[in-house]
Amino acid sequence: MQKTEVESGSRGPLLSLAPMEGLTGHTFRRIHAACFGPLDRYYTPFLTPPRVGSSFGKRDCGEVDPDNNAGLDVVPQLLTRNADEFVWAAELLAKMGYREVNLNIGCPSGTVVAKGKGAGFLRSVDELDAFLGEICRRSPIPVSVKTRIGIAEDAEYDEILAMFRRHPLAELIVHPRVQKDRYRGIPRWKPYGETLRTAPFPVAYNGDIFTCGDMDALLAAYPETRHVMLGRGILANPALARMLGGGPALTLAELEGFHDKLFCTYEAEMGGNAVFRMKEWWFYAKCSFADPLSVHRAVRKVRTVKDYRAATETIFRNGKLADAPGFRAT
Ligand SMILES: Cc1cc2nc3c(=O)[nH]c(=O)nc-3n(C[C@H](O)[C@H](O)[C@H](O)COP(=O)(O)O)c2cc1C
Repeated sequence: MQKTEVESGSRGPLLSLAPMEGLTGHTFRRIHAACFGPLDRYYTPFLTPPRVGSSFGKRDCGEVDPDNNAGLDVVPQLLTRNADEFVWAAELLAKMGYREVNLNIGCPSGTVVAKGKGAGFLRSVDELDAFLGEICRRSPIPVSVKTRIGIAEDAEYDEILAMFRRHPLAELIVHPRVQKDRYRGIPRWKPYGETLRTAPFPVAYNGDIFTCGDMDALLAAYPETRHVMLGRGILANPALARMLGGGPALTLAELEGFHDKLFCTYEAEMGGNAVFRMKEWWFYAKCSFADPLSVHRAVRKVRTVKDYRAATETIFRNGKLADAPGFRAT
């Protein structure tokens, strides 16, 4: 299910879809690729490694089932601080044909951080150092990492980066915020630039690339950028990667076609719960409309499939895309 490594050529950096729990799972990836063309790479939302000797849980099994990822370059992401379980999961993934596994050291959620996982691992750099040493040595497939730059202060990153540099990572994806920022404030480009300049392994950038202008600014500041991971930008404007490659802008008709396929597939998978799954997507997608508030109001109180269909028909019949569709923090 994995393609050969895609080199970033003259057309710009390699583009990947961010792991986003509840949003960018296999159904979204597949339908997005069918409607807008595949991105160069995809990361699964974080998976919990099974106990050593056991299989992945039902939901995670579907996420990594090679049939659900056919034709796409997918990197499974794990959230854990247990090296044995990481390595066991990497062995299972290697047998399924995956050629890289990603470690989540960025999740800012309070419950995850309290357990010392996700961004919480950045609190104990020595333990993370030992953990990375062990998993890089024992994993049958290369290990990449997606990280934040600290817990509370940007200055923490000097020590964190020095630690990363000691490990043979397949790639380091930098989301240059600290855990306490969650997704607020502006990502700091300097720590990303410092990583690009000094890391002995490939480096990727992630954070707030929502428009072609955002990408132009990043590339003007760091022309050596080789991989940019896109998250909320693609949720709001599913044509973003195409546009970054010089392709045409999003149209309302194609947004509607994408929406209809996504909703029908979720409905077949989970019945009426598809409404709630789609409402999470609308949180981002509404930003691409000229009047996001009216879109928000139209879907906010909907609970049933019938009401959902009526609301979205109205949105697509009467709505107008913004002049520059894209995610905006509200
Ligand atoms: C609802 C939501 C779920 C997310 N789930 C994950 C996840 O499972 N793993 C991960 O590494 N990051 C996760 N992230 C972070 C995104 O991958 C990404 O780093 C973040 O959205 C910033 O990139 P963007 O500005 O392009 O959206 C999540 C973010 C959001 C908002």
